[in-house]
Amino acid sequence: MKHGKRVGIVGAGNVGATVAYSLAMQGACHEIVLRDNKIDVARGKALDMSQAASAVRSHTVVTVAEDISDLKNCDVVVITAGSPRLPGMSRDDLLMINAKITKEVIVGVAKYSPDAIIIMVSNPLDAMTYVALKESGFDRSRVIGMAGILDSSRMASFIQEKLGYGGGQIRASVMGGHGDDMVPLARYSTVAGVPLTDVLSDDQIDEIVDRTRHGGAEIVAHLKTGSAYYAPAKSTAIMVDAILKDTKQIHPCAVLLEGEYGYDDVVCGVPVMLGANGAEKIIEVTLDEGEKEMFAGSCSSVQTLIDTLHKNKFFEGDK
Ligand code: 2OP
Repeated sequence: MKHGKRVGIVGAGNVGATVAYSLAMQGACHEIVLRDNKIDVARGKALDMSQAASAVRSHTVVTVAEDISDLKNCDVVVITAGSPRLPGMSRDDLLMINAKITKEVIVGVAKYSPDAIIIMVSNPLDAMTYVALKESGFDRSRVIGMAGILDSSRMASFIQEKLGYGGGQIRASVMGGHGDDMVPLARYSTVAGVPLTDVLSDDQIDEIVDRTRHGGAEIVAHLKTGSAYYAPAKSTAIMVDAILKDTKQIHPCAVLLEGEYGYDDVVCGVPVMLGANGAEKIIEVTLDEGEKEMFAGSCSSVQTLIDTLHKNKFFEGDK
């Protein structure tokens, strides 16, 4: 019997488990179903999190999908499964390995949770979102990639560090793909409503832009055996929450563009309105010439990955 909102999470590693923990602590849904090939790890983490939920008087229970078929009737499914990005490995190196994993998982999700909204987290993020779209056959509003909230949060924290004030009042804006040529938009970033360009010099902003672009790699270099997970997980939980609560809030997310910003059949990060139906609206912000050029570069990097998948005859139609 289905009691209430159910969220499936594929991959109970650091990111998946932290998404589950964050949602369970908030009481964001009735049930969280964890799926991982390491079934005992999933079982242990599910028990541990259900107990933590009881400690904070949250009604959320965390269970385990022993098989992909147990991932049924989910309202939202978060996909974190994939090989992690290790030191020296670019996000793109992961392309073929993770595309195969994504395909296998998505076929199961589409079968057992045909009405779900899918949130992709696996890297390379934009290309994996594209794979999930094609393999699920879902409408583009129901397959959304998590990256923009993470990259914007990183930029906001670097702005706070540079300024030494403004914490909690900073709105940073990052568009484009989740790669080294993502598009941090200083012009659309503010501190308590004050434009960033009024409080920082061009050189300071350039430093922040550069650090944001390499924000994931900076953490990998410290951790050495893995990549970031607190901010990626929290960013994902924010998206799940907006969908479950139908907030209609605008967040930067990776979606399939069909003419928006002049691009077609490519996934890239843009501001979208999140609600019960997923990415309900794509917002087209005005970009100046320099920003348009950066956005074009970012879309073209994603396109190169999609082309590589085609060249390797990854999709059904390529054969
Ligand atoms: C990050 O940005 C690895 O993409 C991941 O932390």
